[in-house]
Amino acid sequence: MLIAIVAERTASETRVAATPETVRKIVALGHQVVVEEGAGRKAAFSDNDYLDAGATVLAGRAAVLASADIVLKVRAPDVHEVEEIRTGATLISLLNPYANPLLPRMADKKLSAFAMELLPRTTRAQSMDVLSSQNNIAGYRAVLLATQYYPRFMPMLMTAAGTVKPARMLILGVGVAGLQAIATGKRLGAVVEAFDVRPSTKEQVESLGAKFVEVPMSDEEKAASDGVYAREMSEDYRRRQNELVDKHARQADIIITTALIPGKPAPRLLSEETIAAMRAGSVIIDLAAENGGNAALTRPGEVVVSDNGVSVVGLVNVPGLLAADASSLYARNLLTFLQLMLGKDGFTINLDDDLLAATLVTHDGVQRFGVSA
Ligand code: NAI
Repeated sequence: MLIAIVAERTASETRVAATPETVRKIVALGHQVVVEEGAGRKAAFSDNDYLDAGATVLAGRAAVLASADIVLKVRAPDVHEVEEIRTGATLISLLNPYANPLLPRMADKKLSAFAMELLPRTTRAQSMDVLSSQNNIAGYRAVLLATQYYPRFMPMLMTAAGTVKPARMLILGVGVAGLQAIATGKRLGAVVEAFDVRPSTKEQVESLGAKFVEVPMSDEEKAASDGVYAREMSEDYRRRQNELVDKHARQADIIITTALIPGKPAPRLLSEETIAAMRAGSVIIDLAAENGGNAALTRPGEVVVSDNGVSVVGLVNVPGLLAADASSLYARNLLTFLQLMLGKDGFTINLDDDLLAATLVTHDGVQRFGVSA
């Protein structure tokens, strides 16, 4: 098989879908890899690194895509890329499947397109889970971003000039990113509290030495909200949650928000009134900025400073700030996924495999995801 890696077109995208390490492994399986010139540059991988790993390096996206059997990408292809991918090829990437207007065209082109966001959260899938590997980085990097905008120390310090209080950090949403943010905040010496609608996260928060902010829930609410993913909550629950989050947010110096509900806009957790009541110099890092944001003032890609001096950081593609490691982990996830189909004997898409069936959004001319029954 001929496997293609192109440079990502989105200006904010620094990552690359294959690294010299994964290219070497694909080549060892007996396949060919072609890499667009400069594809790994922003992630600190040079064309020579790819050549050394056994890839061919070509100038120009169209030339790279023209004959590829399999295309590996980070971001969903744009309209030009979809046209340039060969009819009938396989595409493995983040595809934004809940809101991707190009899925019908991908189906027309008979692409076998896999959306990595749709990978089931099962034990077998863990090593292929790009949301986990990238959100873990986002959680870590969010805390470092906070240190950049926060005008005070993180840890408690006792100095000859007096004592410095530790920063109080509040993490909203305790999935993969939130857990890593807690761990990183603790390591830097902050006092950390965290909240999530899924009650099972309480134990995880406490095991990291942070305090869980608990909204009282009826047994019915507990049962309804304790899946792998969060659901939208009732109005009554949201009112109780808002009151409690507001109280803790007003006392926080740094808030990191990570709350997402798959396929829905990000829930609003911090109102304008709450932000207006925070003290000057406080920082909100909104990791949900790309999905509409968890905070009222968030603007994707921007840092907004409120009238009362709170920095609301809505930077997008936070994993991309750690481009080399983000690419290494993403590329390994994709290689493991690819190996479900690619062996020494060739390439097969086995739809009895639950991981392949769940992620395959277009195949054989049919759009399998995002069409109402
Ligand atoms: P996510 O990125 O979809 O959401 C982040 C967090 O926001 C979630 O914990 C969610 O409960 C929370 N949230 C949603 N609405 C909220 C609200 N209104 N207020 C507060 N919090 C809210 O989640 P992520 O990080 O992808 O992980 C979800 C779960 O999947 C976790 O329990 C994780 O342990 C599990 N997981 C399992 C894997 C596997 O078994 N292969 C791999 C990765 C994650």
